[in-house]
Amino acid sequence: MEKDIKRIDNFDGKADIVNSIIIGDCIQVMKMIKSNSFDMVFADPPYNMQLQNELYRPNKTKVDGVEDKWDKFDSFKSYDEFTKDWLKEVKRVMKNSATLWVIGSYHNIFRVGSILQDLGFWILNDIVWIKSNPMPNFRGVRFTNATETLIWAVKDKKIKNYTFNYEEMKRQNGGKQMRNDWYFSICNGIERLRDDSGKKIHSTQKPLSLIERAILASTKEGDLVFDPFAGTCTTGVAAYKHNRRFTMIEKESFYIDWALKRFKNLQKNIFGNYLDVNR
Ligand SMILES: C[S@@+](CC[C@H](N)C(=O)[O-])C[C@H]1O[C@@H](n2cnc3c(N)ncnc32)[C@H](O)[C@@H]1O
Repeated sequence: MEKDIKRIDNFDGKADIVNSIIIGDCIQVMKMIKSNSFDMVFADPPYNMQLQNELYRPNKTKVDGVEDKWDKFDSFKSYDEFTKDWLKEVKRVMKNSATLWVIGSYHNIFRVGSILQDLGFWILNDIVWIKSNPMPNFRGVRFTNATETLIWAVKDKKIKNYTFNYEEMKRQNGGKQMRNDWYFSICNGIERLRDDSGKKIHSTQKPLSLIERAILASTKEGDLVFDPFAGTCTTGVAAYKHNRRFTMIEKESFYIDWALKRFKNLQKNIFGNYLDVNR
């Protein structure tokens, strides 16, 4: 299996995309990728959080919210258009037997779900990620928001030959059928990428174990996994760790510098049980 990881800065549609991280806008880049390329897609798109004000804890320290430029849209309409555009391209580049995972929060997942159904995708499951250590609602005006939702879907309802590793999931659940409520902590500790001053590299880095479960549930060894919103490349790292191949797209090259460090450390640790992707 190909082990080298490539960073592609000016993708022209000709370069080999296996085990690559392509820098660019995913909709433009996908237009250059040939149809029916990928065995599975994991997408963690912008949430469109629409944060109105900065948020502070009772002790006056500022909460690290998602204030990034990449999460800002003028209106629901522009977010919906963006969602429709990337989902259409994802549908084209997925193989017929491929499945799509999309993760989101209450801010965006209902819109994404409705648009993907309108495009003909067929939902297999919604998985609720229950966070064992969620951020409290600091102002005490709402319930603690302790979940995110993953939609798992096929391209259309006729598709039956998708991969579902039922026995592996059962094994991971102590011999009982795996359910759609998944308990994982948010990404923190040594897994969370931080700079020398302790600042988080990415505001929404996902826990590796969450994406590993999605990959182990719905792909085989050697499959080509695609993520159009790579961020710190958690999907690529999970795929690589389990002998799957990957193609990632990310428009902010800063995150990719860090993602490449994660891969270097994974390569060093690949035969060990302990995965410290930060050092
Ligand atoms: C929610 S984050 C993904 C985080 C990732 N799952 C991780 O664990 O690090 C979404 C990412 O999509 C990127 N992004 C947003 N719009 C994009 C676009 N049009 N094309 C490519 N990347 C985009 C953002 O820069 C951001 O890193």
